[in-house]
Amino acid sequence: MTTVVITGANRGLGLALAQQYSSTGAHVIGGCRKPDDAHALRESGAEIHSLDTSSDASIVPFAAAIGDRPVDVVINNAGIDARAVGADDDARGALDVTAEQYLAVTNVNVVGPMRLVQMLAANLRAAHGTVANISSQVGSLEAAQRLGRDASYNSSKAALNMLTVKQSQAFRPDGVVVVCMHPGWVRSDMGGKGADLEPAEAASGIARVLATLTIDDTGSFLRWDGSVHPW
Ligand SMILES: NC(=O)c1ccc[n+]([C@@H]2O[C@H](COP(=O)([O-])OP(=O)(O)OC[C@H]3O[C@@H](n4cnc5c(N)ncnc54)[C@H](OP(=O)(O)O)[C@@H]3O)[C@@H](O)[C@H]2O)c1
Repeated sequence: MTTVVITGANRGLGLALAQQYSSTGAHVIGGCRKPDDAHALRESGAEIHSLDTSSDASIVPFAAAIGDRPVDVVINNAGIDARAVGADDDARGALDVTAEQYLAVTNVNVVGPMRLVQMLAANLRAAHGTVANISSQVGSLEAAQRLGRDASYNSSKAALNMLTVKQSQAFRPDGVVVVCMHPGWVRSDMGGKGADLEPAEAASGIARVLATLTIDDTGSFLRWDGSVHPW
């Protein structure tokens, strides 16, 4: 059975990914900060463990709960922008964001995915698995000329894209594929009600794309529909 680890699996895109994979018979291991409140995730049939991706003290026991089971897919989905760490909506630019906010966003969006993949490296090797780092179009240096009001978020997704390239190089000899993905503009708490895609549409697109990847795709930046995103 396919085993899929998803972070931030309790709501938004992460929940839709958990539901998508569970509905196709995969075993989903969902990480979230408040397992007792993760009712929809529990209903999907997922195995749930506590996970705060901002803290090694949480990532290490999460990985320990997975143990030595082979892991086919790790989806680093949990992510925040500076509003989640106290920034005003209109004070998130490069001249306004505080050092604490910038570091906190970077910690969740970049350091967490780095540490989780380090902790699950043997599990991924055992399955010749796939890592999907959920990035954003605003992590593209090209697109950021036009898009994004949150300097910490833009920067963190650009760093996540670079981490993807470095993880892909490190894992290439093991046959582990690593990609970063723009999930589309998704109707979630982060994306807002006016966004283009239902979480389920984005999730099914991402799952479809991940199922087709080969080692030739490792290190790519892809959209939810499988098209290549410019760096
Ligand atoms: N929505 C969009 O249009 C869009 C576009 C481009 C990229 N993305 C990316 O897609 C991913 C999912 O976004 P979304 O739209 O589903 O956002 P969302 O609705 O705000 O959900 C964010 C998820 O991340 C979790 N999370 C936040 N901080 C965490 C931490 N420290 N440890 C563990 N989990 C944490 C949240 O858990 P809690 O419930 O505990 O807060 C929640 O499950 C993110 O990486 C985001 O940057 C989204």
